[in-house]
Amino acid sequence: MPTIISVASGKGGVGKTSMAVNMSLRLQDAYGPTLLVDSDLLMANCHVLLNSQPSLDLIDVLEGRYDWPEAVHILDNGLSFLAGRTAPNFLVETNNDRLTNLLTVLKSDAHGFDYIVVDTPAGSGVGVLDTLSVSDHMLIVLLGQATSFVDAYALIKSAYLDRQLTSFAAIVNIAKSAKQADLIFNNFSRTVTSFLPVEISYKGHVTWMQDIVSSSIHGGTVSGVASKARIADKMDTILKSLLVMSPVFGTTDSIIPQAFSV
Ligand SMILES: Nc1ncnc2c1ncn2[C@@H]1O[C@H](COP(=O)(O)OP(=O)(O)OP(=O)(O)O)[C@@H](O)[C@H]1O
Ligand SMILES: [Mg+2]
Repeated sequence: MPTIISVASGKGGVGKTSMAVNMSLRLQDAYGPTLLVDSDLLMANCHVLLNSQPSLDLIDVLEGRYDWPEAVHILDNGLSFLAGRTAPNFLVETNNDRLTNLLTVLKSDAHGFDYIVVDTPAGSGVGVLDTLSVSDHMLIVLLGQATSFVDAYALIKSAYLDRQLTSFAAIVNIAKSAKQADLIFNNFSRTVTSFLPVEISYKGHVTWMQDIVSSSIHGGTVSGVASKARIADKMDTILKSLLVMSPVFGTTDSIIPQAFSV
């Protein structure tokens, strides 16, 4: 049965897609067969970072035109990818049951995936909460900003009150250092847990990286052994803590979106 990791934040633009994409690539390379699902159906971005243009996507599946395996695109490193689409008229909320059903099918049936990573939209809409509800790990991306704290708190509060979810994981993105990330996390966690009976466990941080900025502009993957190794290290630190396991394969050959080279 695959492990589902959903990446959420409340606040927009904090790095969910960057984390989800790089984490998925690393999972596929070093941990086991992985499916990345872009569930941001208003502002889908994963395919941009992956420099991939699948002809079918999640909306084709949710609207019943295709079965999910037909819409899954296999990337160069073997990562399976179910793309989102920027669809201004797509009714996310009304199609949400279908997304939940799809994730439940993916979770319950043996499709050969060890991991499913879901990139969620900003906010705490029904779609995000439903996705969190079927996930094994709810990974909240934080920034050291008041707006990130307020929005992440609102998301966790909704997840607790609406879905009785109590166990969250968090990473700090664009931290200046490990020490600063620790402070940011501790501050956030202390505040949240003083108001809500939830647990938040810290899974690591990512610093500011020029190549994340570059990949947002150009898309695509990076080359360079040193960059690959550094990105693999970043993702491994987070994944080891989240999954409580080390890489199975240990290769750094094919991961590495431009997003994470330095
Ligand atoms: N560690 C980082 N270093 C530098 N830039 C970063 C980092 N993480 C994210 N960014 C930049 O921040 C911007 C937002 O990132 P991203 O699209 O991953 O966020 P998001 O949370 O998915 O946004 P949205 O809520 O719109 O889906 C992008 O321009 C990205 O390049
Ligand atoms: Mg995004």
